[in-house]
Amino acid sequence: MADITTDVLIIGTGPAGAASAALLSSYGIENMAVNRYRWLANTPRAHITNQRTMEVLRDMGREVEDEAYLFGTHQGLMGENIFCESLAGEEIGRMKAWGNHPLSRAAHQMASPTKMNDLPQTFMEPLLFKTACSRGTQARMSTEYLSHVQDAEGVTSTLRDRLSGKEVTVRSKYLIGADGGKSLVAEQLGLPFEGKMGVGGSMNILFRADLSRYVAHRPSVLYWVMQPGADVGGIGMGLVRMVRPWNEWLIVWGYDINAPEPEVTPEFATGVARQLIGDPDLDIELLSASTWTVNNYHATKISKGRVFCMGDAIHRHPPSNGLGSNTSIQDAFNLSWKLAMVLKGQAGERLLDSYDTERAPIAKQIVTRANQSIAETGPIFAALGMAEGVDPAQMQANLEARCDGTPEAEAQREAIRKAIAFKKYEFDAHGVEMNQRYRSDAVVTDGQVEPAFEMDADLYYQPTTWPGARLPHAWLYRRDTGAEISTLDLCGKGRFTLLTGLGGEAWIAAAGRVATDLGIEIATHVIGPRQDYVDHGGDWARISEIRDNGCLLVRPDQHVAWRATAMTDAPESDLFRVLRQVLAR
Ligand code: FDA
Repeated sequence: MADITTDVLIIGTGPAGAASAALLSSYGIENMAVNRYRWLANTPRAHITNQRTMEVLRDMGREVEDEAYLFGTHQGLMGENIFCESLAGEEIGRMKAWGNHPLSRAAHQMASPTKMNDLPQTFMEPLLFKTACSRGTQARMSTEYLSHVQDAEGVTSTLRDRLSGKEVTVRSKYLIGADGGKSLVAEQLGLPFEGKMGVGGSMNILFRADLSRYVAHRPSVLYWVMQPGADVGGIGMGLVRMVRPWNEWLIVWGYDINAPEPEVTPEFATGVARQLIGDPDLDIELLSASTWTVNNYHATKISKGRVFCMGDAIHRHPPSNGLGSNTSIQDAFNLSWKLAMVLKGQAGERLLDSYDTERAPIAKQIVTRANQSIAETGPIFAALGMAEGVDPAQMQANLEARCDGTPEAEAQREAIRKAIAFKKYEFDAHGVEMNQRYRSDAVVTDGQVEPAFEMDADLYYQPTTWPGARLPHAWLYRRDTGAEISTLDLCGKGRFTLLTGLGGEAWIAAAGRVATDLGIEIATHVIGPRQDYVDHGGDWARISEIRDNGCLLVRPDQHVAWRATAMTDAPESDLFRVLRQVLAR
């Protein structure tokens, strides 16, 4: 007999675990989250928060989304991605990043009701954790997960209360391993991994210093520094990262993974910080310093039986592209509604298989992308004649040479410009963030062919309602108040939604009957003139890819489950067939 029982036990309260807890509690599912430490993230690791993650927070409630903006640094201050010899030294080039180029800004504005922003993990975790606990999560801090055994009905986990040293057992129906990059749950589960851990060495140096004079005129979250050693280990170059504008900073500096790990003493850390900033007398208040490794490692299977792993437990990669915490929260969004519907008896257990089918490819994609981004820094070094390593004298000579009026200097300037512009794949890869399309039994295409990407799928988001894709955003207008509301706002919140237009009323009646028969909730909306939601701007008509009398069935995670491009002969039996397949019933 276990000491404690709950429906879902979550190991870890990082972005993945805390998001799972918040979502499960929002869906009314009993859950318990444990963390081996007494509190949440104590360093501001993740920070780039992309639009898809902001949509997940928005789905949790506008108050959650608003608080993220309140504590985040807004998008407008994120964008001048600088390459320089030091903050005080010469600037080599820059590119507008994170949706700040006017063309990219337009693409971001059209893609989502939300805005990208910079929210350090020290703010994101408390926001998710507070949302979880206030909605019902039982949280136990200073509680360490030790092991689990699963059987046909559930999972029994052994935990240790680190304050008393006593062990407790928890019986849950499901277990989530959101226990980070050294996941014991994934290890004990024997999940298969591909790739390699420890492909590079890196260190974080966190400090306070007022650097306004070097940065306020070129606001950015990232300042890339080319100095001797900048191409060794690490994440491609030396990095001075804004944590809070403009007085809290994090330096990321590499070391050779094949050499002994350096001891990052306060003197060493202060020296590196002053060196990268280019001010030997700078007053800094050192807050912490630690080493970590660059990994290129992902699980090819992410669940087994009643145990599901997510976040860094299944994808381990460098921070390039800022995908770690974002993907962790999005993993949680994919799994939570499925667990909720299975636990409520609304779906068969086979629905849970789709977590693996849908999210394991994403794990591979983002790990590959982040590691490739490190390699793509090479051409900048090469353009400055430093493919073999940074030599200060050589660098000065090259920086001088690029100022000449000769054809060679012009060619060098062109090479630098191109190499920097190519870094769009790391700093403005809107497609990587937004183009996720699922293929699984929880999506029914009825043979409709997937639309090809007309532009680079990593760089540009391409909306489609092809089943499996995220529902495209368009602003609609409420008939009663005239206020704008996103198509995404009509969906989510743990339930299925059916969207149709004038002439599609038969779908609404059919959805009502199917929902009653299956014992699930389906929200229904007709979009059109004199309806509750009006498409005054015509944006929805342009991107919905269905006729007014067609319909979209949208899953609780805002991905399209199925679409009928026009009214069918038997709307009710079609909806039945589709939902029975999606819900594995
Ligand atoms: P995470 O590691 O955050 O959490 C694991 C949790 O499990 C913790 O609560 C831990 O205490 C707990 N735990 C572990 N073992 C346990 C046990 N045995 N018992 C109980 N509890 C246990 N990402 C991003 O999206 N944007 C970005 O800009 C960046 N930038 C960035 C910069 C730097 C310098 C780094 C190092 C990392 C990033 N990241 C990032 C990555 C991001 O920090 C990372 O991907 C997420 O923290 C992963 O979240 P998880 O919840 O999966 O694990």
